[in-house]
This record gives sequence, structure tokens and C-alpha cells, in this order.
Amino acid sequence: MCGIVGYVGSRDCSEVLVSALTKLEYRGYDSAGIAVFENNEIITVKTKGKLKDLEDKLGAVGKPQGHIGIGHTRWATHGEPSDVNSHPHSGARVTIVHNGIIENYLDLKEFLISKGREFLSDTDTEVVAQLLDYMYNGNPVETIDSVMAELKGSFALGIMFKDYPDRVFAVRRESPLIVGVNEGECFIASDVPAILQYTRDYYLLEHDEIATLTREGVTFVDEHLEPIEKELKTADWDMEAAEKGGYPHFMIKEINEQPSAIQMTITPRIKNGLPCLEECGITLDKIKDFKSITIVACGTAMHAGMVGKYVIEDLARVPVTVDIASEFRYRNPIVGKGDLVIIVSQSGETADSLAALRLAKQKGATTLAIVNAKGSSIAREADMLIYTLAGPEIAVASTKAYITQLSVIYLFAFELALAKETISPAECKRLVSALRKMPEAVQYVIDSCEEKCKFIATKLINAESLLYIGRGLDYALSMEGSLKLKEVSYIHSESYAAGELKHGTISLIDEEMPVISVATQTDVIPKTISNIVEVKSRGATIILVCTDACARKLKEGVADYVIEIPHSDELLMPITAVVPLQLLAYYTSINRGNDPDKPRNLAKSVTVE
Ligand code: F6R
Repeated sequence: MCGIVGYVGSRDCSEVLVSALTKLEYRGYDSAGIAVFENNEIITVKTKGKLKDLEDKLGAVGKPQGHIGIGHTRWATHGEPSDVNSHPHSGARVTIVHNGIIENYLDLKEFLISKGREFLSDTDTEVVAQLLDYMYNGNPVETIDSVMAELKGSFALGIMFKDYPDRVFAVRRESPLIVGVNEGECFIASDVPAILQYTRDYYLLEHDEIATLTREGVTFVDEHLEPIEKELKTADWDMEAAEKGGYPHFMIKEINEQPSAIQMTITPRIKNGLPCLEECGITLDKIKDFKSITIVACGTAMHAGMVGKYVIEDLARVPVTVDIASEFRYRNPIVGKGDLVIIVSQSGETADSLAALRLAKQKGATTLAIVNAKGSSIAREADMLIYTLAGPEIAVASTKAYITQLSVIYLFAFELALAKETISPAECKRLVSALRKMPEAVQYVIDSCEEKCKFIATKLINAESLLYIGRGLDYALSMEGSLKLKEVSYIHSESYAAGELKHGTISLIDEEMPVISVATQTDVIPKTISNIVEVKSRGATIILVCTDACARKLKEGVADYVIEIPHSDELLMPITAVVPLQLLAYYTSINRGNDPDKPRNLAKSVTVE
């Protein structure tokens, strides 16, 4: 999604803006631009392409010399990626950058055209710039407030008024925006990593609040233009966490961070060998009466929910439905008082997941958020909250966030099973103890499988399509393996319940279709092996991810490549088994010459529908 930055201070503003934008590259973008006050004039330089292209252009035309400005990376929504559609956009006296969508922009555009305004771009953003200019009454904050009343949608804006060359304004509705502060300087940004090189202190801008940034500091007013005091926050992770630290890509760095991410996430939530989620607002008493659970999320987070379904149903005997947030929110779901709705989200800002959370609350359900980004909208609005403590996840393809989501879901499932008395405290302690071994087990899998995955990935370079199969938890995991591969390698892939193949999909199998099978669940391994034999006999190349115990029983020639992982508690196997799937995706992406950190067309934080 688009990234916004802004600066007011005494540094070289163009440099600050470009440098801050590089820290938002992970969000995904197709064009970039900056606008800086130079001798009281706003100078805008923008281009289609990457930040490198912007830097080249700045080199060619001369970078604006000044200390106050705004910058943007654009992920196209309205209008193709092009120089003219890139941000910043301007009206005669106003220049803005924008993240999000203005839903009523066509009506507003029509109105402005009827008033004689002309538009250069296809964007909804230019409509806001023109509207600000049209409604400008000499007072920027009042004007922004009046314009906000006209806008529908979710968005964040960084704004400069030509008449006020000493300040930058910021406002948001739904889309995230923070205001960083330091001695003699202030920043705005879509996310904390953008400002970490300058300061760790920041404010979270709330809906419809307007911030005014000057060298003296920042002031805030609410939607009624009343001045407000806000709580200063401090980022608890530093630059290093948001840098590659010697790895070629964030994705592989984050895969390698998984053991410590699990450790960080589970350790504070275990006391006396049992789960302890009191600090997250969860007690046995509070959860014992839930009759049904719905897990709502998007993409990888939804796949973590799929694992949750199997685990919660198995341990706590409570029916669990998993729903895609964009479906849940528009289908009048059956949830209400006495039901628990769990929202899983790395960013805590995913538009559909946030809307699903609000709908669930409106219908009377109790909500639990499992979120990585501190202070995000989903984290703030849910009734109960468990943070995954994965640290910043920069690569677009989620890895360590997924594994920590699983870890939290396991802890919650154990706690729920205790509350429901479907497992004994002794059994719970055994499960917790098995979970505690996961950081070490994941480290072992990374160390023992990476070379093999690298090699097998060379065999996938020319594949046009792949199938991932498994049963039960292995099926839930196959979904994640398949998504990971397709998003970073651009090879089409599907995940399928292995037993369902015969009902149609097996017709796709031939020599050209590699099949990746996951087999970690002892009860169904013989069944999955039969399915593997069926696809093998139709010519498919088989890559099998299985436990060492399964590998020992495997007949010669059943699979072309076998990736063995150590056997642990069966329910916990997804935590270790996902690692080779992540590595296969990563190395296939590299082999095909892609940038796994910034897959085409994708954005890290999907703050629009
Ligand atoms: C895939 C991926 C996405 C996200 C999805 C939800 O690797 O990262 O599928 O899982 O966009 O995002 P969050 O978790 O931020 O709500």
C-alpha cells in the first residue's frame, strides 16, 4: 500500500524523505515522489518506478533544497502507474500525499469540474488536493476539517499549504499514520520503521484528528477543532530489527528469526508450565462458556486460523469456523452473544479484517485480536488482545508473523481446553512443554533443510503449476505453502485436501506438474501416501515433506525428493513443517530472478478493500 512520509526540521528534507521512503518500500509501490518547500515555493519531483528512479530524477533535475516537505510511494489504485498519477498532487495552493481510497471521489470530481476545476491525473488524490484548494479559507486546519466532512472512505493525508511554508499537516481516517518527534524536528509516516533512524518517539494519530507539525513541535486538534493532548509512545524495537543484518533479503532474515520470534511470543505467556494469558485479558472463567468460535482473517493470517480450527476443535471440542474477512463482512454472518470471534492480523490494519472485527462487535460477539503491530486499529478495538511478539516483519511474504500467530493460537487452544475441562492440567503441561521446544526444533529444521530446499528449488524453476496436498493439519499447512510459493515465485499453485484429488483435480496431473505433499500426521500418513502413489503413477514429480518416522517407513521411489523434519507432538507439527515450505518458496523466487521481499502487485499492509 502507499507509504507517506513528511518532515519539518533543519536537515536536508529531500534526503530525509527519500531515506524514510526506503524504509516503507516493503509496503509495495510502483511510483514515488516528494514535494519540498524551497524559498517558499513548493517544488514537486515524482516518477513512475522505484525510489532509485526518483533518485535518478532528483539527480537530473536537481533535488529541491529545503527543510520541510512530504513524500510518497504509490501503490496504484485509481489510474495506472505513471508519472502524472504519482504523488504528490496539487491544487493551486495545496500539495498532498495520500494513502487509502476516497470512495466518493467521482462525485466530488464532478462537482469540482462544474466549478471550472481541471484535473491532470486519474487519481482520487488529486480530487482531495483540488477540494482543499477550493474550500481554503486561509486557515489550514479549519479547511482540512471542512474537507474531511466531505470525504468518504479510509485514508491518511500529508498536506502542505503554500501560505504556510513552515509547517506540514496530517490527518487520517482508518488508514494508519504516525507523527514522530525529536528535538527541533517532526515527522509523519505510515509506519514506524520510516522514522526509526531519526527518533523512536511518536504519536499515533487517531481518526479525524489533525496534526500540525512545526520545528517547535506538534499540536493536535480533534474533529471539533478542540486542542488535544496525546500520549507519546516509544518504539520498543530499533533500526537493526528493520534492517537486513547481513542477509540478502528480509524474507530469509525473517525465516531465520523464527526461533527467537516464537520464544519471545510464548515465554511471557507461560507460568508454572501452564498458559497464562491474564495480561491479555483472558482468564479461564472468561472463556469457558463460548459455544462457538469464528476465526476471521486474510491470506496467511487466515491460514494460521485454519490450523487453529483443527487444534481448537481437537483439544477444546468447540466448533470453529474459519472465514475470509472480505467474505465474512458482507454475508450477514451468524455470530452473536456467547460467540467468540478471533481476528488474526500481522499489521492490525487490514481493511477487511478491521471491518469484520467491527461487524462482530456490532452483532454482540466477544472479540479477540491476535496482532503483531502494536497500537494498530485491530489491536485497539478488540475486547481481548494477544500480541504476537515477532518484531517488525518487513518482507511482504509473511513468515515469522505466521509462526507466531500459530504459537499464540496454540496457547489459546490449550487455555480454552483447560477452561472447558477437555484436557487435564497435566496434559496441558505436556503440551506447553512441547510448545516450549519449538524454537529449538525450528532452528534444527532451518539448519538441516536449507541446503536441500535450495537444491529442490532448482527443480521448480520451469514449473508452470504446482499442487500442494495434505490431510488434516497437513492440508491447513499446504494452503500456506501454496500461497507462499505463488506470491514470491509467480508460479501458479493450488492446495488440495489429498483425499479430494480423485474428485476432479487429479485430471490435471502429468509430468509437468510437481506435487508437494505434507505428511506429518501419523493417523492419516498411510492415506496420504496412497494419494502420493496415485499422482506419482500419473507422472508427477513428488516432493514430500514428512517426519523422520514417516520417511523411515517410505518405500523406495515413492517420492522423488524427501525433506525430513523431526517428529514432535503431532498437533504442533505445522510449526516445524512450514519452514521447508517457506524455504522452497524463497529459493524458487531467487532462482527465477524475482525479488522475494517485494513481489509484484502485492502490498504488505492492505489498508484498502
Ligand atoms: C502473505 C501475506 C498476506 C497477509 C494478509 C493479511 O504472505 O502476508 O496474505 O497475511 O494480507 O495481512 P495482515 O496479517 O496484516 O492482516
